[in-house]
Amino acid sequence: MGIREEIEKLRKEKNAVILAHNYQPPEIQDLAGITGDSLELAIKAKEATEDIIVFCGVEFMAETAKILNPGKKVIMPVKDAGCPLADQLTPEMIREARKKHPGAAVVVYVNSSAECKAEADVACTSANAAGVVRSLTETEIIFGPDSNLGSWVQEQVPEKKIIPVPPDGHCPVHAVFEISDAEEAKKKEYCIVCHPECEKKIRDASDFVASTGGMLKIAHEADKWAVFTEKDMAYRLKKEFPDKEFRHYEKSVCIDMKKITPQILRDSLKSEEYEVIIDEDIMNRARGAIERMIKIRG
Ligand code: 13P
Ligand code: SF4
Repeated sequence: MGIREEIEKLRKEKNAVILAHNYQPPEIQDLAGITGDSLELAIKAKEATEDIIVFCGVEFMAETAKILNPGKKVIMPVKDAGCPLADQLTPEMIREARKKHPGAAVVVYVNSSAECKAEADVACTSANAAGVVRSLTETEIIFGPDSNLGSWVQEQVPEKKIIPVPPDGHCPVHAVFEISDAEEAKKKEYCIVCHPECEKKIRDASDFVASTGGMLKIAHEADKWAVFTEKDMAYRLKKEFPDKEFRHYEKSVCIDMKKITPQILRDSLKSEEYEVIIDEDIMNRARGAIERMIKIRG
């Protein structure tokens, strides 16, 4: 039996659903039942009726799945798949910011720990960040940990004041893009789409700014794309739009997303490891912020 058949057999026996983020390696994207961006996967996890949710992504995504559907067993095939951006925000930083800005609302990017979400009023993803901020009655918004996403939201919602916490939080995978990449892509007549985690200078040099799910929605707009985000997003785009060209950048790689292999996925289905366990109190406090985000959607 090949690995694909083995995984499918185990998945059925265990009554599991396999979710994979758009940055997962191509072979994992192909094995998953559902592939999507952070928001889409959170919604799918909430709606899952299977006994087990196998989350192929990074820790904050699997935690979000568990918080939204606590009765299910949520499994991460790789124990130490973290997010260096999420690590840049702590609950203490949020509490400090609240003290300094008592009238402000706290919006945390979903790329944050469950402990941070427990301190927040509402969460957001890159797909709905502007809509979430716009929906709030407060004028001052404490926003973290991604300062680039924060500045992008600020541009779209000028009536609010975004207070980035920390002031310079950023994703190393999206910090690699240079203006010269945009110049070269333009010379070769590519349409440029970048993720909002890219720096302002890159966003300004791009034709579109979109979440990974948003990139799939706008792909019909051009035939040749330069995709300024994690390299395997281009695989997902090509799969959905085989007649179009998607230029990817090998230098933009999220190593935490690449720790998984089909063998690791199979073994995790067999052993049902590693189960996501979150403190009950944290989970209950974090749920409100995530549920509120899903209701707003953006
Ligand atoms: P999306 O929500 O756009 O899929 O982004 C998640 C992420 O981690 C980007 O680096
Ligand atoms: Fe975190 Fe950046 Fe990887 Fe996204 S690409 S999971 S923000 S490190």
